[in-house]
Amino acid sequence: VTAPLTTIAEVGKHVGEAITLRGWLYNLRASGKLLFPIFRDGTGTIQGIVPKAQVSEEVFATLKGLTLESSVVITGTPRADERAPGGFELDVTDVKVTQAIPEETPYPITRKEHGVDFLMEHRHLWIRTPRQSAILRVRATIMRAAAEYFDTNGFTRTDPPILTPNACEGTSELFEMDYFDDEKAYLTQSGQLYIEATALALGKVYSFGPTFRAEKSKTRRHLTEFWMIEPEVAYLDLDGLMGLAEGFLTHIVKRVLETHRNDLAVIGKDIAKLEAVAAPGEFPKLSYDEAHQMLVDAHAKGLIENPHEYGDDFGSPDETYISNQFDKPVMVHRYPAAVKAFYMQPDPKDPTKALCVDVLAPEGYGEIIGGSQRVDDYDLLKSRIEAHELPMDAFQWYLDLRKYGSVPHSGFGMGIERCVAWICGLEHVRETIPFARTLNRIYP
Ligand code: 4AD
Ligand code: MG
Repeated sequence: VTAPLTTIAEVGKHVGEAITLRGWLYNLRASGKLLFPIFRDGTGTIQGIVPKAQVSEEVFATLKGLTLESSVVITGTPRADERAPGGFELDVTDVKVTQAIPEETPYPITRKEHGVDFLMEHRHLWIRTPRQSAILRVRATIMRAAAEYFDTNGFTRTDPPILTPNACEGTSELFEMDYFDDEKAYLTQSGQLYIEATALALGKVYSFGPTFRAEKSKTRRHLTEFWMIEPEVAYLDLDGLMGLAEGFLTHIVKRVLETHRNDLAVIGKDIAKLEAVAAPGEFPKLSYDEAHQMLVDAHAKGLIENPHEYGDDFGSPDETYISNQFDKPVMVHRYPAAVKAFYMQPDPKDPTKALCVDVLAPEGYGEIIGGSQRVDDYDLLKSRIEAHELPMDAFQWYLDLRKYGSVPHSGFGMGIERCVAWICGLEHVRETIPFARTLNRIYP
């Protein structure tokens, strides 16, 4: 009789019973007649205890000579141990090697410190380390929770095309390709323009997919390929949009806290900071003017290095300072229209401002959400397209939406990787996605 197969995440349900785990050898420590192998199986890690006197000679010898990351099927009995990271240890009784890595070609990632370039070059292997695996599990939950929030609140998912004839967020960041004989196509920067159309068909919609920007800048926050989730709602104004963003982010943080406390501990994230976000109470809201004043005061007190110029967008030190004043995400609304996209509705109280909002994550993670109310008047939109020197032909269909049953409508986009960086407390977005695409890297 073979012991039932389970996973490391589930060993707590099998304390005192023989079980089988299928995984890899993550680490091995030997201390005289005692071996301490650490196994991983994709759901977590567990330390095994192997006393020479209590296992067959063959099992002891096999484990003792096993190279790191060799694949193994292990039989053993879990035991609760409060000092163990996951809460359990495994009394190993048997081991079957699926593939032993030869000594001459050892696994390249060792326990010593590797440089980031080396790790990114070996990203296909780096993702096996417990911290990277934990990040990818949290990412999956963030994506599921994000979609779930809209799915359970009356939204219909409508997938926009990835190959598009026109720009959404500005022409300088487009990836261009030939589209058969004499047409050009561009990889989408955002599904927004298309889901404005589906919102006018279905009311409340969202899209969720990869988006692309030929970002020439090397920063901690920019990828050239990233995943965006975007809701778009007919008859919604800016205030309603801010409420939607708040409910959405709160839901995501709650879901992560429900199921990933172990993973967050492995990653090293301070859970109290996330609990503060999920606690009752509204997210703070600041107008651009108020945020600007906050920066002027901070500069006068010597708290930030560079003065903020009124009218300019916020730089990343500005965003960090603003977000550090709060323990919840902060919503900055009504930026100068001149620094924002062509499709944003002007504020009727001051048409130099746009009815838009950027949500800045706590702890200096910067903008995670950008959104706005959209221009709903045909003539105004047409003049905006002209002023931005966008090709009118490609925008005919988009203008039609203002010609036939136009309504006020609003939406936002959240970059999944920025959200993962914030929730996991990661310095750089390259660790938030299985295979990051950046200015300098498209391998592996
Ligand atoms: O603020 P952005 O450019 O807004 C839009 O694309 C709108 N069309 C969305 C909408 O209203 N439906 O981008 C939205 C979010 C940012 O807040 C950020 O989280 C993420 O997308 N983002 C990036 N993430 C990683 N790498 C990049 N290069 C990113 N550019 C934007
Ligand atoms: Mg933005």
